[in-house]
Amino acid sequence: MTSHKIAVYGAYGHTAGFVIDSILHRGWTPVLVGRNHIKLSALKSKYPQLEIRVAEIETPKSLDNAFKDTIFIINCAGPFLDTAFPLIESALRLSIHYIDLSAEQKSVLDVFEFFSEKAAKGDSMILPGLAFYGGLADLLASAAVAAWDNVDNITIAIGLSFWQPTLGTRLTGQRNHYPRLIYSKGRLQPKEDNYQEINWNFPPPLNAMKMTCLPFSEIITISKHIRVSDILTYFSTNALEDIRNKDTPPPMAVDTRGRSAQEFRVDVIATRGIEKRIARAGGRDIYAVTAVLVIEAVDRIMKGKTQAKGVSSAGHVFNACDFLKSLSSDDIEISLD
Ligand SMILES: NC(=O)c1ccc[n+]([C@@H]2O[C@H](COP(=O)([O-])OP(=O)(O)OC[C@H]3O[C@@H](n4cnc5c(N)ncnc54)[C@H](OP(=O)(O)O)[C@@H]3O)[C@@H](O)[C@H]2O)c1
Repeated sequence: MTSHKIAVYGAYGHTAGFVIDSILHRGWTPVLVGRNHIKLSALKSKYPQLEIRVAEIETPKSLDNAFKDTIFIINCAGPFLDTAFPLIESALRLSIHYIDLSAEQKSVLDVFEFFSEKAAKGDSMILPGLAFYGGLADLLASAAVAAWDNVDNITIAIGLSFWQPTLGTRLTGQRNHYPRLIYSKGRLQPKEDNYQEINWNFPPPLNAMKMTCLPFSEIITISKHIRVSDILTYFSTNALEDIRNKDTPPPMAVDTRGRSAQEFRVDVIATRGIEKRIARAGGRDIYAVTAVLVIEAVDRIMKGKTQAKGVSSAGHVFNACDFLKSLSSDDIEISLD
């Protein structure tokens, strides 16, 4: 690999902004790609030194032209139900790596099912769902169960102090009308409506929260590489109410890095018989921390610190404990018991 050009698709989106700044911080070169020339040109005024390239998911040639001299596509353009397939096809044609941020279970499941065989024959790493929802719980679960060859139960609890969603989050929620899946008795199954609200005690500052069963793409990624009987995700009900309220504003920056005041906590509890392991993460701003995870993944792939190939997830392809421990506590606090 001689080039460190990294394509960011959907470059003028909110999360993409964190990704672009993080790429620059590492000394690599982002290439700003998206479907809208006017929005790309506006972004150019913030980053005059960077190249902008227009490419549409409907036109494979435009995608190949935009990505041809890059080594990675970081797909920040959701709904990923729409964008993942054409971008992965381009990545495979060009033998470059692909990461997306999908919280959408169906998108991640389809990527595993459709591309695993083909990607295994090539050199591209394809990592769907490497983000706050999906990737972080996958890494925490993988770190928690590292020395176990089978696991009874993985319970994930995600707490947010509030959720001011981006337009992309709202549109993705509307587009993702598929039944949510849980993992029960060793297989993916539609989530039934009979789950009760539960109380969860997070570490400060969130403390006690009411939680509802709401699985994201981590159910798919974890079940693909950990031998486990049951996986369930709970989510804080206050944040669900925020996102269901059409008047909730988009994220507002309160620090110099553009992060909002939103606090998050993710607890993962794994059990095997009477043994129990807990892995926790906490920090600020789910959109900003997504970029932290993506950039660490890019760095590790560039350095060859990988233990799988083809379509995979963060917890499988990287040493999860090492990955999580290497993150700066300014970005995310990790505790592994
Ligand atoms: N899993 C997670 O934890 C996590 C974290 C962060 C973000 N995300 C997801 O990432 C996506 C982006 O989020 P965001 O917060 O950055 O939203 P955003 O600021 O609204 O940006 C959305 C971006 O996606 C592009 N886009 C949407 N549909 C497209 C299509 N069909 N073709 C090309 N570009 C398209 C938009 O371009 P236009 O303006 O031209 O439409 C824009 O660049 C959402 O799906 C969100 O759910 C997930």
